[in-house]
Amino acid sequence: MHLKIAPSLLSADFANLERDVRACEQGGADLLHFDVMDGHFVPPITIGPVVMHSLRAITKLPIDVHLMVANPEHQIEQFAEAGAAWISVHAEATKHLNRSLTRIRTLGCRSGIVLNPATPLEYAFEAASDADFILLMSVNPGYGGQSFIPSFLTRCERLRTYLDKSGLSDVEIEVDGGIKLDNCKRVVDAGANVLVSGSGLMHGDIASNIKAMKTAID
Ligand code: DX5
Ligand code: ZN
Repeated sequence: MHLKIAPSLLSADFANLERDVRACEQGGADLLHFDVMDGHFVPPITIGPVVMHSLRAITKLPIDVHLMVANPEHQIEQFAEAGAAWISVHAEATKHLNRSLTRIRTLGCRSGIVLNPATPLEYAFEAASDADFILLMSVNPGYGGQSFIPSFLTRCERLRTYLDKSGLSDVEIEVDGGIKLDNCKRVVDAGANVLVSGSGLMHGDIASNIKAMKTAID
């Protein structure tokens, strides 16, 4: 499956967001990962559709919206209208996962299920046929710069095996949290093909950092 790098804007310089987006483009980023936090599902509050709408106007890169919000079904429409290409919702945050995923697809976006590190994989199994991708958290969500939880690797292998055996081999696996140059190859070997990285990429020469990660996983 095509390997993709999704730099997380959470670690960008928000006073220079356009500059950092250009650096992501120059580095060959495949997606821009856009972390939405509501102060309820996770303690911090980050950015929302207004910022996304402005970003949409300055870049052609697909925007990958990770909704860390309670009742994400209430937010899907706003982000689709603001120009999201991918939208993922936490299984822990909605009572209506299949409905949320179907709604995302109806609005013309790619739908994703997100699971926290301790959430049983079975949650994703039950809804996987309504998803284009499954985002496995490799940290507990809410903050950039945390350490990668190693149990992700066997979890990811189990999910990849399940999807392939179930006729769902087109469903992509995204990983988010603690991904750096020194562990990116391991997560790809475990079956992830979309790599989110914030603090691992969004510092210093961002374009070179992305190129180095692309080389490391090739
Ligand atoms: C954390 C966010 C991540 C965050 C990752 O809850 O979902 O996307 O930006 O940051 P790093 O790569 O620094 O762990
Ligand atoms: Zn994220």
